[in-house]
Amino acid sequence: MNSFKWLIRILLIFFLSQFSFSADTITQHHYIKDNKDEVIVSGGKIFALGFFSPGSSRNRYVGIWYHQIPGKTVVWVANRDNPIKDTSGILRIDGRGNLVLFQGNRTLPVWSSNISIASTMNTIAQILDSGNLVLLQNDSRKTVLWQSFGYPTNTWLSFMKIGFSLRTGMNQSYTSWRSPDDPGVGNYSFKMNPGVSPQMVLYKGSVPLWRSGTWTGKIWSGIPEMTQNFIFRDSFVNTDDELSFSCDTKNASILTRWTTNETGVTQRIIWDNNARHWITIYSTPKEQCDFYGHCGPNGYCNPYLGDFECTCFPGFEPKSPEEWFIRDGEGGCVRKLGISMCGNGEGFVKFPHVKVPDTAADALVDMSIGLKQCKEKCLRNCSCMAYASANSETNGGVGCLTWHGDLMDARAYTETGQDLYIRVDKNELARYTKKGLLQKKGVLAVAIGSSALVFLILVAFLRCLVRRQRNAERTRKRKNIFSFTTFEDSLGENEIDESTRNGEFPYFELSTVAAATNDFSSDNKLGHGGFGPVYKGVLFNGEEIAVKRLLNSSGQGLQEFKNEILLTAKLQHRNLVRMLGCCIEGEEKMLIYEFLPNKSLDSIIFDESKRSMLDWKKRFEIICGIARGMLYLHQDSRLRIIHRDLKASNVLLDATMNPKISDFGMGRIFGEDQTEGDTKRVVGTYGYMSPEYAMQGHFSIKSDVYSFGVLLLEIITGKKISSPFPDSPCLNLVGHVWELWREDRAMEVVDSTLGDSYSADEILNCIQIGLLCVQEHATQRPTMSTVVSMLSNEATLPSPEQPAFIEKKSHNGDGLSTSEEANSENIVSITMIQAR
Ligand SMILES: *[C@@H]1O[C@H](CO)[C@@H](O)[C@H](O)[C@H]1NC(C)=O
Ligand SMILES: *[C@@H]1O[C@H](CO)[C@@H](O)[C@H](O)[C@H]1NC(C)=O
Ligand SMILES: *[C@@H]1O[C@H](CO)[C@@H](O)[C@H](O)[C@H]1NC(C)=O
Ligand SMILES: *[C@@H]1O[C@H](CO)[C@@H](O)[C@H](O)[C@H]1NC(C)=O
Ligand SMILES: *[C@@H]1O[C@H](CO)[C@@H](O)[C@H](O)[C@H]1NC(C)=O
Ligand SMILES: *[C@@H]1O[C@H](CO)[C@@H](O)[C@H](O)[C@H]1NC(C)=O
Ligand SMILES: *[C@@H]1O[C@H](CO)[C@@H](O)[C@H](O)[C@H]1NC(C)=O
Ligand SMILES: *[C@@H]1O[C@H](CO)[C@@H](O)[C@H](O)[C@H]1NC(C)=O
Repeated sequence: MNSFKWLIRILLIFFLSQFSFSADTITQHHYIKDNKDEVIVSGGKIFALGFFSPGSSRNRYVGIWYHQIPGKTVVWVANRDNPIKDTSGILRIDGRGNLVLFQGNRTLPVWSSNISIASTMNTIAQILDSGNLVLLQNDSRKTVLWQSFGYPTNTWLSFMKIGFSLRTGMNQSYTSWRSPDDPGVGNYSFKMNPGVSPQMVLYKGSVPLWRSGTWTGKIWSGIPEMTQNFIFRDSFVNTDDELSFSCDTKNASILTRWTTNETGVTQRIIWDNNARHWITIYSTPKEQCDFYGHCGPNGYCNPYLGDFECTCFPGFEPKSPEEWFIRDGEGGCVRKLGISMCGNGEGFVKFPHVKVPDTAADALVDMSIGLKQCKEKCLRNCSCMAYASANSETNGGVGCLTWHGDLMDARAYTETGQDLYIRVDKNELARYTKKGLLQKKGVLAVAIGSSALVFLILVAFLRCLVRRQRNAERTRKRKNIFSFTTFEDSLGENEIDESTRNGEFPYFELSTVAAATNDFSSDNKLGHGGFGPVYKGVLFNGEEIAVKRLLNSSGQGLQEFKNEILLTAKLQHRNLVRMLGCCIEGEEKMLIYEFLPNKSLDSIIFDESKRSMLDWKKRFEIICGIARGMLYLHQDSRLRIIHRDLKASNVLLDATMNPKISDFGMGRIFGEDQTEGDTKRVVGTYGYMSPEYAMQGHFSIKSDVYSFGVLLLEIITGKKISSPFPDSPCLNLVGHVWELWREDRAMEVVDSTLGDSYSADEILNCIQIGLLCVQEHATQRPTMSTVVSMLSNEATLPSPEQPAFIEKKSHNGDGLSTSEEANSENIVSITMIQAR
C-alpha cells in the first residue's frame, strides 16, 4: 500500500515536471510556487526561471539560469536585495497586471515589476530563449511592458544592451553580486560612460578600475581581443538619441555571457557544447597595465618592457624617483623642468598601438576635422598635450580627439589599439628625429631594413592569399546557403558586404526575424509597401522593429530593395528612419528598421479623430524636421540624394512625434556637382510630383522641393492633395490655396482643429513658403537650405506667383495610370506611376 502510494507520487511528480510546468509563461491563473519547486522554461528549453538558493546560503531568490547546463549558472535575479527566508514564495501576475513576488500570505510584495498598467490590460510573463523575461500585453500586438533585460544584475547576455537611449529612456548597467552566497548589489559595476568619446568602464564603487578605451570604429582600443569574427556580432550604437553596446552572437543558439564576479574580475565566457564546460575567452583586469591609472598621470604602461612596465611620456619624468625605483608607478610623471611648450618649435611623437588616455576629463572631440587638421589644431593650442583620431578605423580615420590636461591610463599593445600623438618640445623632437636619422644611416640598419622588407612582402603575400581564400569561401558559402546568385549579380554585393563589414548595418538571421514577427503572422502586419508587406516585430532584447519583406524577388522591387539598402545604410540623421539591418536568406529578402510607434503622418493629419493630437507648435516642429531631413539628403550627407517620393505617408513619427523620412527605394544618388537628371521610368505619387517630373521625367532637387511644398500645405490644412473642393471643382489643394492667397483669405484654409494654438503670422509665413515651393518653374522654387532659413525667419520671403496646380481631369487623360491610393494604415508605402 505504502509503496503504491509512493509510486503514484513519483509518477505524479514526474508527470507534473514534464508537462504542466514546462510552460514558458506565468499568467493570472498559472503561477509558480517555491515549495513545489516549480519553474517555467523557455520555448527552446534554453533558459529556466524559478526559485533558487545561491552558494551555501539558504535564502530564496527568483532567478533565471541555463536550463540544460548543470550547476545552475544564474544570469538574473529578481529580488537580489530582498531574500525570502523560507520556501513560501509565490511568483504571479497580480490584479493590476504586474509580475509580483509574494512571501506566503503577506500582503506586501517582496519584489514587483512595478509599472503602471491600465486596469483593463490582460498581461502574461514569458521567458524567452534569449534569457529575457518579458511582461507582455496579451493581445495581438504583444506589446512589451517590462523586461528583465532592462534590469541586468551581474550578467550581460547576448542581445542585452549596456548604455542609454533618450528615445526609450533606457539607462542600463550591471553590478556584481556581493558574494557567491549573496546576489545583492556588490561593489563592482560595469557601465557605459558617455564622456566626450564613449568608453565602457568597470568601477569599484565610484572609482574606475578598468576602462575599455575609446571606440575605433571596429573595436574598443583597450580590448584588442574583441574583434568581430564568425561567432560574435557586437553592435555599437552612437547616435543622437542612443548610446549603447551589445555583444550579440550571429547564431542565437551559441550561449555566451559577460559577467563580473565578486572580486571585480570581468569575463566573456562561452559554452562549449562538445566538452560541456564554460570557456573564458576574455578576462580583465588581467595584467598590471589593465588596472586604471597603474602608471599614474602622464605615465605610459607598456607590459612588453622587460623590467618595469611604467615609463613616462617624452618630456616627463617620474614624480617620485624613489617610488619609481621600488616599482611603484602610481604617483605618475610630471613635466621636466625648464621646458617650453608654447609656440617654440614643438612637434609630435607618434605612439602606435595604444589604448588612448581617458577621455572622461580634459578631453575634447571635434568630428568635423581629420587627422591633419587635428594636428594643426593641437599645435595651435598651448594647452593641448596630445591628439588622436576619434574614430581611427572608420573610413581610414575621422574626427579629432585632443587632451588638455594630465594623460591618464594609456597603455601599449603589440597590435590593434590606435595611434596617439604626444606633444613634445623642440629638443625632444630633435632627439626623436635624430633616432630615425641614425637608423637610416647605419649599415646595420639598412641590413635590418631590407630583411624587414622581405619579411613584410612575405607577410603581405600570405595575407593576400588568406584573404582571397576567405573571400572565395565566403562567396561560396553565401551561394550555397542563400542561393544568392541572382541577387548578388544584380546588386553589387561587394558594396553591401563592405557596409556590413564596416559594422554600418548587420545581417539578421531569418530565424531571428521570424521569431520577432511571430512567423510573419497577419496580426503583426502593419501594412503594405511598394515591394511587399511590412511587419512589426519584437527582438530578443525587447527592441521593437519594423520588417519590410520583399515579395517577388525580381524586377523593380529588387532594384528598389538594393537602392534602399545602399542608401539607408550610409545615411544617419535625426529626421531619417534608421535602418537596423537586412536579412537575405534563400528567397527571403528583408529590411529591418527601427519601429516608430506613431505610424505615418498621414494616419494622423488626415484622420478626423486624431488630427487634433498635433497642435500648431508640434506641426511646425514636424515641418522643420522634414525640412532638415531633406536638406541633409540634398546637401549634407555623404551622398547627394533626391528622394523622389516625399509625401505624408513616407514621413513616420516617433514616440515624441519627431518626424522621420522613410522610403529611399526610389532615391537617386548624385555626384558632387550633379543636381538633375532624366528618367524614362517616372516613379512617385500623383499630386506630389512637380510638373516637369510628371510630364517629362525630368527630376532634380527642385522636384523634391515641390513635393515638400505640397506636404507643407497638407500639414497646415489637414487636407489631402487629392481632396475635392466642392466650391472650385477643377482645382486641387494647391490651386485652392493659391486662389485664397490671392484674395487675402489664406487663413481660411488653416485646419480648423488647430483652434487658437497658432500665431497667424507664422502660419501665413508657412503658407507662403509652401506656395514658393510649388512654383511652376523649378528655378523659382527655393532650395531646401533656403527653406530652412525661411522657416527660422532668417531669410526674406519673395512673393509667390501662380503655382503649378494640376487640374485633375486633364491629368488623368495624360496616359498616366496611378496605382491605388496609399492606405492610411500603411507605415511605409510606395505608390508608383509608370510612364507608358
Ligand atoms: C499567514 O499564515 C500563517 C501561517 O500559515 C498564519 O499564522 C498567519 O496568521 C497568516 N497571516 C495572515 C495575515 O493571514
Ligand atoms: C514601486 O514604485 C514606487 C514608486 O516608484 C515605490 O514607491 C514602491 O516602493 C515600488 N514598489 C516595489 C514593490 O518595488
Ligand atoms: C492570451 O491570448 C490568447 C489569444 O487571445 C488566449 O487564447 C489566451 O487564453 C490568453 N491568455 C491569457 C492568460 O489570458
Ligand atoms: C543613468 O542613471 C544613473 C543612476 O540612476 C545616473 O546617475 C545617470 O546620470 C543616468 N545616465 C543617463 C545618461 O541618463
Ligand atoms: C565593498 O567595498 C568596501 C570598501 O572598500 C568594503 O568595506 C566592503 O567589504 C566591500 N563589499 C564587498 C561585498 O566586497
Ligand atoms: C546555430 O547553431 C546550432 C548549434 O550549434 C546549429 O545547429 C545551427 O545550424 C546554427 N544555425 C545557423 C543558422 O548557423
Ligand atoms: C573571480 O574570478 C577570478 C578568475 O576566475 C577568480 O580567481 C576569483 O577567485 C573569483 N572571485 C570569486 C569571489 O569567486
Ligand atoms: C585651447 O583649448 C582650451 C581647452 O579646450 C580652451 O579652453 C582654450 O580656449 C583653447 N585656446 C585657444 C587659443 O584656442
